[in-house]
Amino acid sequence: MELYLDTANVEEIKEIATWGVLSGVTTNPTLVAREGRDFEEVIAEICDIVGGPVSAEAVSTDTEGMLEEARRSSEWHRNVVVKIPMIPAGLAAVSILEKEGIRCNVTLVFSTNQGLLAAEAGASFVSPFVGRLDDTGKDGMQVVAELSEIFDIYGFDTRIIAASIRHPTHVTEAALAGADIATVPYKVVKKMVGHPLTDRGLERFLADWEGFSGSKSR
Ligand code: G3P
Repeated sequence: MELYLDTANVEEIKEIATWGVLSGVTTNPTLVAREGRDFEEVIAEICDIVGGPVSAEAVSTDTEGMLEEARRSSEWHRNVVVKIPMIPAGLAAVSILEKEGIRCNVTLVFSTNQGLLAAEAGASFVSPFVGRLDDTGKDGMQVVAELSEIFDIYGFDTRIIAASIRHPTHVTEAALAGADIATVPYKVVKKMVGHPLTDRGLERFLADWEGFSGSKSR
């Protein structure tokens, strides 16, 4: 499973990119608005850092508007993937854009059937929102698992991005459920890397090494 960062903050992306674990980035209008920067400028800058797919969301709700936005943003960088909402006008846009070679990530997916429709329309990526489903008392990860099984049975090329990830356990569960990608907020990635036993173990190793006379010859 690949890891994407779910953020529009360039500093966060730069930091995690140095770890060599980052395969892409997803943004949404909320995340971009939070940065208070020009949309094109921030997406182009993220593309230069990451070297993998970067999702930029269309905000039109009609097919023509989505097509126009998608064609424009796909010119910004070859790694731009256009995020299209899971509505009928969105499916129509996806089926046209994918034929033009513009990759789409169908977003705001909350059911297996919605994900299936996105795949039938030819989407390169589909994003089930795990955390927001969990918030309603449903098991969000079940959608990821069902889509993974269905895509395997029928040989769909659509890649599943487990989105709306809220904590490190979601990431493990997404990997076990067969997600191709988990898009993870910065604060969750930071939680994934740490463990108190790692810190304690390292402290002990270094203290023991310091007290060992042979350490001086290094
Ligand atoms: O970018 C889509 C998704 O990851 C949003 O997550 O936490 O706002 O539900 P959240």
